[in-house]
Amino acid sequence: MDGTLMDDTLMKKAAEAISRSHHTVALTGAGISVESGIPPFRGKGGLWEIYDPMEYATIDAFLRNPEKVWRVLLMATINDLKKAEPHSGHIGLARLEAIGRLRTIITQNVDGLHQRAGSRDVIEFHGSFASYRCLRCDRKAGMEALELSTLPPPCECGGIYRPDCVFFGEMIPPHHLERSHTIAAQCDVMLVVGTSATVQPAADLPLVAKQAGAVIIEVNPEKPPLTRRVSDIFLKGKAGPVMDRLATEVEHRI
Ligand code: OAD
Repeated sequence: MDGTLMDDTLMKKAAEAISRSHHTVALTGAGISVESGIPPFRGKGGLWEIYDPMEYATIDAFLRNPEKVWRVLLMATINDLKKAEPHSGHIGLARLEAIGRLRTIITQNVDGLHQRAGSRDVIEFHGSFASYRCLRCDRKAGMEALELSTLPPPCECGGIYRPDCVFFGEMIPPHHLERSHTIAAQCDVMLVVGTSATVQPAADLPLVAKQAGAVIIEVNPEKPPLTRRVSDIFLKGKAGPVMDRLATEVEHRI
């Protein structure tokens, strides 16, 4: 089986579980946006193959040399995000929400593509690149208001802007962490799409759901370690074709 051939029996089993469920949630990661042209972090072509996260993705590295982090990692990310469009993977999740079969997406992504695909209840666990705040006066700005010809982008107060994302070494916003844990503990199906589930505390959420009795459905072209530990149904393949087919199968069942 490869990225285009899906196991029919498993697909139907997953669709049955979602159509019977009272509370399905999704946990997504960088893999769901790969088909939109945004590179993942790990594995072949991943950002951490090119950039050392200790040098570019920790809050200490940012505060030590914001110009370097802005010039290299943040601008590369912004340029990728500006070109990206949601694809059938994001749209498949939005379709499930629209028919009342998916309540919430907890995403580790900062790209805003779930919302652009039409999903309404999205928890941005690692923050977002849509908004920025001044390190000195806390003034907020959208991406279009940033003066990117000077890096780091300056604020009127003389301070500099940072993205509203979570750098390594920073806390997950407590309201996101709390709500995500509650949802994971209450759901009866968790769809885990395009994440290696290696970064805590997001990686714990499928475990929390599993321990509370949820069925874990995983969508990924590779078999990440999560599969061996908690997944009940593994749909091997790319998010786009798998989610498109899964949404169609669920739509036929309601
Ligand atoms: P990773 O890059 O760790 O994992 C991406 C996953 O997506 C892998 O398991 C791939 O096999 C899978 N994948 C690749 N292409 C895919 C496709 N077309 N469809 C579906 N899956 C595909 O990304 P995350 O798990 O999101 O955090 O990484 C978690 C966190 O690590 C990120 O939020 C970021 C990073 O460091 C911070 O920066 C705080």
